[in-house]
Amino acid sequence: MAEVVIVDSADAAGELAADAIGHLVVGNPDAVLGLATGSTPLTTWRALAARDLDLSRVRGFALDEYVGLPPGHPQSYRSVITREVVEPLGLTPSLVRVPGDEGPIEFAGEDYERALVAAGGVDLQVLGIGRTGHIGFNEPGSSFASRTRVKTLTEQTRRDNARFFDSIDDVPMHCITQGLGTILRARHLVLLAFGEAKAEALAGAVEGPVTASLPASAVQLHARVTVIVDEAAASRLAHADYYRYAWEHRLDWERP
Ligand code: F6R
Repeated sequence: MAEVVIVDSADAAGELAADAIGHLVVGNPDAVLGLATGSTPLTTWRALAARDLDLSRVRGFALDEYVGLPPGHPQSYRSVITREVVEPLGLTPSLVRVPGDEGPIEFAGEDYERALVAAGGVDLQVLGIGRTGHIGFNEPGSSFASRTRVKTLTEQTRRDNARFFDSIDDVPMHCITQGLGTILRARHLVLLAFGEAKAEALAGAVEGPVTASLPASAVQLHARVTVIVDEAAASRLAHADYYRYAWEHRLDWERP
């Protein structure tokens, strides 16, 4: 079962996620970090940037990217990762990859899988969750064995992400995303969720049946998952009291 930590705010969650990443990087300066984009991880990146950590040797792999945006578009995930992660955290740009950033898109998925394997796999993968229950851009129906590949976004996800664009018509229809099978290979998953809008998907992911209809439920198959959520996102969890109790009584050596 995932460890679920319920905190007061997205800022508090960011501090906890930054603790986990900081601990990893102090132990292994060449660690491989899986990077999510979107709003959810922003407090984590902020908390990390405020710490006195040398992240220059960390290797980064983004979860996903839009397909069809012009190069350098400010909302491409390459641009977002550069702006929100690489620059503030002092990562080395050449050590950070985004799917689809090299070569023809038809082969980009396999190339990315090869690059992940060559790097030794992801040590810690930061994840957000979409209202459709997606992680990465694995929309409902995605195979639990899926690898990095081009997919079509749901209308719901395009509507949700329209806030980053001038209009929904500007949100690409296609994306390239790590598969659920790819994500499950990471050694530690840290799933973050904030706000009431995520409560239903989160409860399904953590406590519902394991089903491709709710792709984030794949995390139940992983041996090491830390779910860090605010009260609103936790509001539909049936076992919230137990999660709080377990966290309050955690042993000294236990960390997210
Ligand atoms: C982003 C990603 C997506 C987002 C999800 C939540 O790289 O893979 O799964 O994590 O859509 O988005 P936000 O955080 O903007 O609510």
